[in-house]
Amino acid sequence: MPRIGVLVSGRGSNLQALLDAATANALGGAVAVVISNIEDAFALERARRASVPALFLDHRGRAREDFDREVAERLREHEVELICLAGFLRRLSAAFLAEFPGRVLNIHPSLLPAFPGLAAQRQALEYGAKVSGATVHLVDEGLDSGPVVLQEAVPVLESDTVESLSARILEVEHRLYPRAVRLLLEGGYRLEGRRFMLEGV
Ligand code: GRF
Repeated sequence: MPRIGVLVSGRGSNLQALLDAATANALGGAVAVVISNIEDAFALERARRASVPALFLDHRGRAREDFDREVAERLREHEVELICLAGFLRRLSAAFLAEFPGRVLNIHPSLLPAFPGLAAQRQALEYGAKVSGATVHLVDEGLDSGPVVLQEAVPVLESDTVESLSARILEVEHRLYPRAVRLLLEGGYRLEGRRFMLEGV
């Protein structure tokens, strides 16, 4: 069973979606370790409840490369072959990404390249977009800029607040992320430039 490492900073609802999919044999792999840079992130509690090793690594007062090196070491110790960022609020260094080429995924609450960075749902609402959504993408050195694996649109309603739009996007995220992980682990894809293409489709 392929082993997955999940990096988190917060409540971990996407982590939960991955854990649930693994339990339902729908992920194509198992979550082998969860690492948080925030000690009281609820995501760590979710990992413990699922009997998955839950590690806190403090990034404060450390150079980025130094912190990233430790994260990479822990991931290698747990023999992961895929890394999922799930609300992990830190950029990863080039050195880290070079250790896991094409094997780091992220989920973002907008249709990239629209609204990268923080508060994507608020950005969409304030921009006046009529459609937003969720994107799972491979991570590169840029900000939410790697090749798109899966995307799904969510309409922006006139009655929406940041909270209501975020909640509808989150439902989509929870469906999309396990599907994307499964695609990556099954391996039936190729990258042509930025384009993630399924083999035989
Ligand atoms: C999600 O909206 C995700 O798209 C973004 O951060 C949020 C994390 O939420 N990257 P959770 O911690 O998974 O509940």
